[in-house]
Amino acid sequence: MLSNLPQQPADALLALIKLHSADPRADKIDLGVGVYRTGQGATPVFGAIKAAEQKLLETQESKSYLGPEGDMGFVHGLMPFIFGKDDPSKGGRIEGMQAPGGTGAVRLAVALAKKAGVARIIMGLPSWPNHAQILGDLAVELKSFNHANTDGTVDMDALRAAIAQAQPGDAIMLHGCCHNPTGIDYSNEQWDEIAPLIAAKGLLPILDLAYQGLGKGLEEDAYGLRKVLSLVPEALIAYSCDKNFGMYRDRVGAIYVMAEDAAVLNRVLSNGHALARAAWSMPPDHGGAAVRLILEDPELTAMWLDELDTMRTRMRQVRSALAEAGQAGSIDLKPLGGQHGLFSVLPLSSEQILKLREDHGIYMAGSGRINIAGLTAGNIDKFVADLAAVSG
Ligand code: LMR
Repeated sequence: MLSNLPQQPADALLALIKLHSADPRADKIDLGVGVYRTGQGATPVFGAIKAAEQKLLETQESKSYLGPEGDMGFVHGLMPFIFGKDDPSKGGRIEGMQAPGGTGAVRLAVALAKKAGVARIIMGLPSWPNHAQILGDLAVELKSFNHANTDGTVDMDALRAAIAQAQPGDAIMLHGCCHNPTGIDYSNEQWDEIAPLIAAKGLLPILDLAYQGLGKGLEEDAYGLRKVLSLVPEALIAYSCDKNFGMYRDRVGAIYVMAEDAAVLNRVLSNGHALARAAWSMPPDHGGAAVRLILEDPELTAMWLDELDTMRTRMRQVRSALAEAGQAGSIDLKPLGGQHGLFSVLPLSSEQILKLREDHGIYMAGSGRINIAGLTAGNIDKFVADLAAVSG
């Protein structure tokens, strides 16, 4: 029976990692998968994580099972940062559970929505390719709308129309901040308009917050999520620590449920626990425990916040440098200055993307998405020149 299975293509984004490492050129540039890089091109373990891991090594007495909900100290420790220091559980209406990375959290959120009767999810495209893949795998219909205009602004008309045409029982998937792949986020004023529209239509919001702190700031990046939650009765939130704690391969995430009241909340979560038990039984502990130790310790928390500030500042500097470069051939780099997070999309054809890779050693996703953290003072001029050469 197994020989009946057709060959599947390798995940295009993950395949780029291998292609880039196999390239012997010294001046190659990796703008592929979304990992932060320092000005020297490294992706180091956070100092706060190293310190927490040391503490974990010295103090952890058992690796016995926890349960499908994972480390609840970790889950609760994040809540003031996500939902606000003032009443983070919204009167006992929000509770969460640990998940294997942001992907595990999104998958569980979609599975939970489906179990609750959601058959269709409205989502702006382009989006993180794995979003559509997860929906397809769980046999939930994707109703798409255009996320952004070619001039780099949000396509609010398309979003308004998608919400207006939604059916009862639909959910809507929104990126909380640092839109992946476009970097084009809703402004606070746009969230102020979107949140009441979602509430009036009775849609179930699924909010994916995978880059908190990498856009405008920890608090600022939660504006839209908090605005939506302030107006709707229920919501699902998928959270990732893989970027803002640099935990990528350790898979550190959480899913939160906001329910109409505390009694319903426990019932919903029991479904989350059952789904997790059937999928992965319980999440990997190490990364979540390290994050918990940081959040329990004011000194380590300050250290983490400082490291996150450094990351954000560097990414803003790269964005400013790109915007200042202005034009690279036919590509207008100015809008990148006002975009947020690790990613932006350049309007390049597949031939141009291939030429950049083969002739210039520049690796980016097939969508034209670049990870701006791959640019440094040492390679940004080459990047702009090569972009001009290929697109000019
Ligand atoms: C990305 O979009 O590059 C990251 O979210 C990594 C991933 O899992 O795709």
